[in-house]
Amino acid sequence: MAPTAVNGASSEHQHEVARRPPARAAATPPVDLDTARASLRLALPEPGSKYSQDDEWCVVAEPDGSWGEYRFHDYDRIFRVPGLYEKIFYDVLACDSPRFMVGLLRDALDAEGAGANTLRVLDLGAGNGIMAEELAAIGVPYAVGVDILPEARDAAHRDRPGLYADYHVADLTALPAAERDELAAHRLNALTVVAALGFGDIPPQAFRTAYDLVDDGGWIVLTIKDAFLQDTDTTGFGGMIGESIRSGALEVVRRERFQHRLATDRSPLLYEGIVARKRGPLAG
Ligand SMILES: C[S@@+](CC[C@H](N)C(=O)[O-])C[C@H]1O[C@@H](n2cnc3c(N)ncnc32)[C@H](O)[C@@H]1O
Repeated sequence: MAPTAVNGASSEHQHEVARRPPARAAATPPVDLDTARASLRLALPEPGSKYSQDDEWCVVAEPDGSWGEYRFHDYDRIFRVPGLYEKIFYDVLACDSPRFMVGLLRDALDAEGAGANTLRVLDLGAGNGIMAEELAAIGVPYAVGVDILPEARDAAHRDRPGLYADYHVADLTALPAAERDELAAHRLNALTVVAALGFGDIPPQAFRTAYDLVDDGGWIVLTIKDAFLQDTDTTGFGGMIGESIRSGALEVVRRERFQHRLATDRSPLLYEGIVARKRGPLAG
C-alpha cells in the first residue's frame, strides 16, 4: 500500500518513508513521562463531596474523547497510562510522601553518621518507582522493588528504568520459599513502605515478611495513618507496629506527622512518618 502523507510531508520524503522496513514504520515512539503527564486531563468530584480513602475516584479524558472513571485504588489501570499516577497524586493532589520520607531518612542517617551509600533497600509497595528515584537522589546505590501488581513493575521499568536492581511481583502473604531466598540473597539492610500500608493495600502479614528479610540493626522507613497505631486499631498494625515501638523492637529514630496528600475534597490527609532501626522481631 502507498504511504499516506502526514503533516505536510513532501512526496520525496514519502518515497524515503516507503523504503523503510515496515517494522520501523509501524513502531510507536516511546512517550516521555513529563510530556505524557502534561497532556492528561482529569476532573475530581465536586469539592463538597466526601469519600473514604478506599473509595476516592476521578475522571480522566480518554484518547477517544470520552471520560473514564478511575478509582484511586485501581492502581493496575492507573499504571497502564503513562503519567496518570503522577498527574492524579502529585500534580492535582500534592502528594509529598516519598520526598518527605527520604528526607527524614537522610536526616536520621546524618545524625548517626551513617552513609546512604551503605543501604540496600527493599522497597515494598514500590509502584512505578518514585521511591527508588528519591533514594537514588540521596545516594542509595541499591534498591529492590516488590509490588503485588505486574502493572506496577511494568510502569517502573517503562518510566524509571534502571533504578531497581531487581523487581519482584509477589504476594508477601504467600511468598514461595524459592522467591524468599532470592530476596534474601540481596542482603537487605533497609525497608521502605511508603503510602502503601493498610486501606486494602499491604496487610500486616506482608509487612512482617518484608521486615524479616531485613538485617538486625537495619533501617525501617514507613508511613501509616496514626489511627492504625492506636490501641483501638482493628487492622492488626496497632498490635504489630505500635506494640513493637513500645517494646523497643522497633527503635524510633525520627517520627513526624506530615501531610501525605490532599483528599479529593481538598482536605489534608495526615500520616505518621517513621524512621526506625530494627532491634528485634515484630510483636504479635
Ligand atoms: C499508593 S501506591 C505507592 C507507591 C510507592 N510506594 C510510592 O510512594 O510512590 C501503593 C502501592 O502498593 C501496592 N500494593 C498494594 N497492595 C499490596 C500488597 N499486598 N503487596 C505489595 N504491594 C501492594 C500497589 O500495587 C501500589 O503500587
